[in-house]
Amino acid sequence: MPSRLTPNSGPRSAPSAAPAVSAVPASALTSRFAARLIAWQRKHGRHDLPWQNTRNAYRIWLSEIMLQQTQVSTVIPYYAKFLARFPDVAALAAAPVDDVMALWAGLGYYTRARNLHRCAQAVVERHGGAFPASVDELAELPGIGRSTAAAIASFAFGAHATILDGNVKRVLARVFGVEGFPGEKKVENAMWTLAESLLPSNASDDEVSAYTQGLMDLGATLCVRGKPDCLRCPFAADCVANLTGRQRELPTARPKKAVPTRRTWMLVLRDGDAVMLEKRPPSGIWGGLWSLPEAADEAALAVRAREFGGDGAVSPLAPLTHVFTHFKLEIEPRLAEFDRGVGALAALRDADTAWVSVSDLDSFGVPAPVRKLLESLQGSLI
Ligand code: ADE
Repeated sequence: MPSRLTPNSGPRSAPSAAPAVSAVPASALTSRFAARLIAWQRKHGRHDLPWQNTRNAYRIWLSEIMLQQTQVSTVIPYYAKFLARFPDVAALAAAPVDDVMALWAGLGYYTRARNLHRCAQAVVERHGGAFPASVDELAELPGIGRSTAAAIASFAFGAHATILDGNVKRVLARVFGVEGFPGEKKVENAMWTLAESLLPSNASDDEVSAYTQGLMDLGATLCVRGKPDCLRCPFAADCVANLTGRQRELPTARPKKAVPTRRTWMLVLRDGDAVMLEKRPPSGIWGGLWSLPEAADEAALAVRAREFGGDGAVSPLAPLTHVFTHFKLEIEPRLAEFDRGVGALAALRDADTAWVSVSDLDSFGVPAPVRKLLESLQGSLI
């Protein structure tokens, strides 16, 4: 079937598995979409999230960055911790990047944390500590893309700006029957055009905020990826996916490509309850985080264990797998034991290595799977 990039605009030939159904013409729904969404948001949307009911651009920006690839329930405790430690953009800009990384550890997608820090510094240096109000200026700051800029401008400054994040793409693909993988440029451009055409042009600032929040709320609470709750959806009667039973097929999935596997050997160098962590280079996976020393194979790992002063003897621990967006990482951990005592260990520390008690991992930014590995060993690390 040819890929159709425009919203459904009338009777369509359905794929063989789905019944042929005439969807509501896009123009009819387009003109009613915003009003219905705003009414639904006011009645059924979320109104008490920690970053709502404020026009504080710093707080709104922080939440939008954290929420880029992470669910609300995961973000909430991190958001509170960040605000307690960095109450405003100047405090964040002035903090050492390592403190930011440590507080971010566990939220994933660490480029967001480095950009968060760079963005805070840019706001202080370029804008005197006040976030700019325009979408274009916001989008020039590190880590702020077109949709995030629009969300901040809308929530903080009442701008009439269009958002299009992953959740919104799912809602639009289903309701309007947009075919094609939304990560593909042509499809994404068509969705931006559609999203812009839906934004209510003569609504008040508050209505636009409710509209923007409504898109997010619908995508996060009803029009979810796995099992959408179409019975409660305000667009059930018009939604192409609902009318054709194609909720699972829309939005179109990323074309399947074999995910490559990489393998790495990690050294758990331990002395009593301490393990040695090594700071990773600033870019690449887990850039700037504290992790275990690594090598490309078992022999190279033994060489590294000797470099750190061991006798080269290592014993295997249970392997684990971590799945990134573009590849799968198989981790082969190996244990090497030291017996030097804490005083001698302190002398072994340099800027890129640290002996850390497993109970003290909180003050270091440690990638979640490495942390899990170390915590699973904690009982035996005595
Ligand atoms: N996802 C992205 N931005 C959000 C927001 N402001 N509220 C809830 N979920 C979101």
